Amino acid sequence: MARLIRVEEIARHVGEEVIIQGWVYNRTDKGKLQFLLVRDGSGFVQCVAFRKELPEAIFEQLAHIPQESSVRVTGIVRADKRAPGIPGGYEIGVTGFEVIQAAQGDYPVALKEHGVDFLLDHRHLWIRTPRQWAILRIRATVIRAIRDWLDGHGYVNVDTPILTPAACEGTTTLFETPYFDDEVAYLTQSGQLYNEANIFAFGKVYCFGPTFRAEKSKTRRHLTEFWMVEPEIAFCDLDQLMEIEEQFVSAIVQRVLEERADELRYLGRDTAALERITPPFPRISYDEALEMLAAIRAETDDPRLKQLLAIEWGQDFGSPHETELTKRFDKPLFVYGYPTEAKAFYMEPWPGRPEVCKSVDLLAPEGYGEIIGGSERISDPDLLLERIREENLPEEAFAWYIDLRRYGSVPHSGFGLGIERTVAWICGIEHVRQAIPYPRTIKRLYP
Ligand code: 4AD
Ligand code: MG
Repeated sequence: MARLIRVEEIARHVGEEVIIQGWVYNRTDKGKLQFLLVRDGSGFVQCVAFRKELPEAIFEQLAHIPQESSVRVTGIVRADKRAPGIPGGYEIGVTGFEVIQAAQGDYPVALKEHGVDFLLDHRHLWIRTPRQWAILRIRATVIRAIRDWLDGHGYVNVDTPILTPAACEGTTTLFETPYFDDEVAYLTQSGQLYNEANIFAFGKVYCFGPTFRAEKSKTRRHLTEFWMVEPEIAFCDLDQLMEIEEQFVSAIVQRVLEERADELRYLGRDTAALERITPPFPRISYDEALEMLAAIRAETDDPRLKQLLAIEWGQDFGSPHETELTKRFDKPLFVYGYPTEAKAFYMEPWPGRPEVCKSVDLLAPEGYGEIIGGSERISDPDLLLERIREENLPEEAFAWYIDLRRYGSVPHSGFGLGIERTVAWICGIEHVRQAIPYPRTIKRLYP
């Protein structure tokens, strides 16, 4: 009796007769020989059918099966290094074939080159293709690695609200929605403020969920809806925070290397660059980063780059600055001590240098740039109130947040890691929109 298996476990079934259920990704017609590339959600496998080995009617059905039809294939597993697929190296000699549904009409995402807008309009079908499938499998592993690491290191997952009364990360990117009784609510930009309440109950916490920013930018790094994991730790300063971040990020990358080698290979990812991701990571201050950028500007003959890299003390980095900085390191790079004016209101001032704050961004190598933003938080209630007023934030909405500093305030720190940027870097892909199943950007709400 043939047993139902999943393609990802095919290596364990060489010589056995098996059944796989899935969809026809591609078919190559060699007359009396037909090659089907069948995907079952866990992988892609080549199925080889000979006219003389199947009943005539079944062979004919197989030889005319449209792309993306759903099928059940029975056959004998053989190891063959040349066989395409993911994992690849195995094929199925077909002994039986059953059609669940013959796909109706021409399949839109036919196997040829398509423009990216066409593909994004057909994202619901595009995710079936091997590249997109590999990226989203890696995303799932990144998320599992995140949860496992945090759960295994004493962090409690405490969920934070999505509908909120005030801004966390600046008022220019808030999504507003009407709420009852003439109130307005904002979609959360970050769970951080609630995380800070939660550490006083649980010590070390994290929230993980979708966050929203009405980003007007159309860069390859910006979505309007993205997923962020945000750990927050009581009794933790900026140096300790950087140690946690480098352990955390290294664990995620190493886990993907272990569990998603086939997908990384399919994507053509240079895994040597990922194997280097182990603690410690280099650390430079914002001031040192500005010096490096000035040196890069002085060296380059490219006038465009010279102009792109122009920056004055006090400004936050843009993508070009981050890209140039990270090209000079082969590990993620910590840049700490940003100007207070460039960052959010809640960051602890640098001792003796109030124009600088105890913030740190982690920039991914190979030009990827910021994947984490984090900081030590202000622990003094009066200073916090002063900063809220300076930023013209609505005081009433933050009353509860200031309370946290009244009852047992402690030094504390936390960070937020953007899932899509992290996945884009690990996969070595150009744009964050391929790192999320259904991207939302300034120009895209469909499908
Ligand atoms: O640096 P950000 O804005 O930091 C915060 O929101 C803090 N409250 C987090 C914290 O300390 N708990 O965002 C954190 C990360 C960025 O480094 C980036 O990876 C990602 O979130 N991110 C975006 N990803 C995609 N599209 C966008 N528009 C993003 N904005 C931020
Ligand atoms: Mg940031």
